[in-house]
Amino acid sequence: MKTCPFDFQRFIDGWVREIAMSRCHLSEDFDPQILPSDPRFGDFQCNGIFAHAKRSGMVPRQLGERVLEALQSSDAAHLCDLSLAGAGFINFKIAVPAIENWLATYTSEEDFSDATGDLSGKTIVVDYSCPNTAKQMHVGHLRSMVIGDAIARLLDFFGADVIRDNHLGDWGTQFGILLMQLREEKISWENLSPDETLECLETVYRRGTQATQASDDAMERARAELVALQNGDPERIATWKWINAVSYASFQEIYDLAGVKFDHVLGESFYRNRVNRVYDELSQCGIAEADEGALVVFHRDHPRFDQQPFIVRKRDGASNYATTDLATVLYRREEWHCNEIIYVTDGRQRDHFQQLFLTVERWFAAKGYTLPVLKHVWFGTVCGEDGKAIKTRSGEPIRLKTLFAEAIHRAEEIVVSKDSNLAAEERVHISRAVGIGAIKYGDLLQNRTSDYMFSWDKMLSLEGNTAPYLQYAVARLHAIFRRANVDPHALGKSHKIHLQEPQEIALARKLLFYPCVLRQALADLRPHFICTYIYELAGVFSTFYNSTKVLDADQQTLFSRLSLCARTRAILRSGLNLLGINALERM
Ligand code: ARG
Repeated sequence: MKTCPFDFQRFIDGWVREIAMSRCHLSEDFDPQILPSDPRFGDFQCNGIFAHAKRSGMVPRQLGERVLEALQSSDAAHLCDLSLAGAGFINFKIAVPAIENWLATYTSEEDFSDATGDLSGKTIVVDYSCPNTAKQMHVGHLRSMVIGDAIARLLDFFGADVIRDNHLGDWGTQFGILLMQLREEKISWENLSPDETLECLETVYRRGTQATQASDDAMERARAELVALQNGDPERIATWKWINAVSYASFQEIYDLAGVKFDHVLGESFYRNRVNRVYDELSQCGIAEADEGALVVFHRDHPRFDQQPFIVRKRDGASNYATTDLATVLYRREEWHCNEIIYVTDGRQRDHFQQLFLTVERWFAAKGYTLPVLKHVWFGTVCGEDGKAIKTRSGEPIRLKTLFAEAIHRAEEIVVSKDSNLAAEERVHISRAVGIGAIKYGDLLQNRTSDYMFSWDKMLSLEGNTAPYLQYAVARLHAIFRRANVDPHALGKSHKIHLQEPQEIALARKLLFYPCVLRQALADLRPHFICTYIYELAGVFSTFYNSTKVLDADQQTLFSRLSLCARTRAILRSGLNLLGINALERM
């Protein structure tokens, strides 16, 4: 057992609850609401007294005094300077010896992760990236991949069994059009790379769409192709498989560059033979009904979905996006025994997921199936300088391949301007990490539900809240260790940290807020809390390093301060790692 709590916010919460109940006889519904406080007054603040007093007809300030007194007369391990403010708010400061103890206990990324078992025993599916095949990935696919990956990493950190599933859009009407048009055009596919093949397929698709819009006859032929495909015609299946394989080869290049991995790539097509059970069960349970030849689900007590039904089988008898998603929930529950599913998509799909979740709830309740927790983690749009969704000059969404290549190219210019003596291999490695890191961080830094403006200058700047700035901060820490000729890992628990100077204490205090920040990011599934924190931490570190002697301090102080540098390094790296960004030893 560790004697020092990892997360002081949690520790104080538990302690205040206990004392308030046992000594002040507050009822069980008392929620202390412990939050980080204004640093002038303390580290944490108890905000829940006001609401509790109001609810129970007590005077807030008086209740605050009672609770404070009880807290002060019990053993306030780890805490000091308890004080009352305003209408019953209690401030707490973490005592310096407790901070030193914390720094001695939690020294590495493994220690942090070991201390947070909140999700152990839980199986959580993260459904992210999920582009549609027969097209290249473009900027519209950036956020699901980047945010989904960060969320999967965070859940994993908290001990969950995470299943990363790339639910590709590989089964839909687009294939009818593609197959029709491919039949009509004689194209030589030899010697084309996956990207070139996809580019070619994109134009074939465009011509096919024009043809079906121009003539009913073409439309009929496309429909017939789709029916043939869905009935398993070997020739159509072979072409369809080829398109998907080429598509995935192109996606894989992006995933490799971005450092994103999946445990499963089960596209919509995987569920095509599992949709009959969905129709049967939803119909038998009286949840789905026939409506003009289609099978639909109305949610009668919903303000909109009472009129706007969830279509689970189209008029022509074909399945759709909703059907495969319904079959997918069942599969994930029955085969993977998942406790939770998190879907990471664009905010425009909010209605789809609300209808999906409502339908699954009714269906699973009727059948007595265990319902996993279903969450839609949605995000806003990436905008160009004009405030509209970012596009190329010709009006197409920018391809991710182009975006990443430009980021790496721009990063390389910056890297070379800083140090022109880098060996070629190292230059390539650093430029990649900086370029890709800048795009990912520029995205994660935003509150995911907001739209944001894409700006090369902002995200690649070495100053401000950017990946390059943070990567530079880590590299600078490594440089300190190189100059001291000390291995940061060797400074684990062996060297006692003794906090003396105010800037040193300020840095140490900042470090112990890391667990609270992680928990906040987890609670809301919003990685930007981590970005804000590590950026602030890098700033506090800078202040410490610029104002406090480290390398030329006396021997004992040197090792104490180097250990503090090692903790800062561990937390910055851990934070960047959770965001899927490469920390660099040299830059
Ligand atoms: N393929 C879809 C799209 O491009 C996203 C799929 C998200 N996942 C899901 N299970 N519906 O919009």
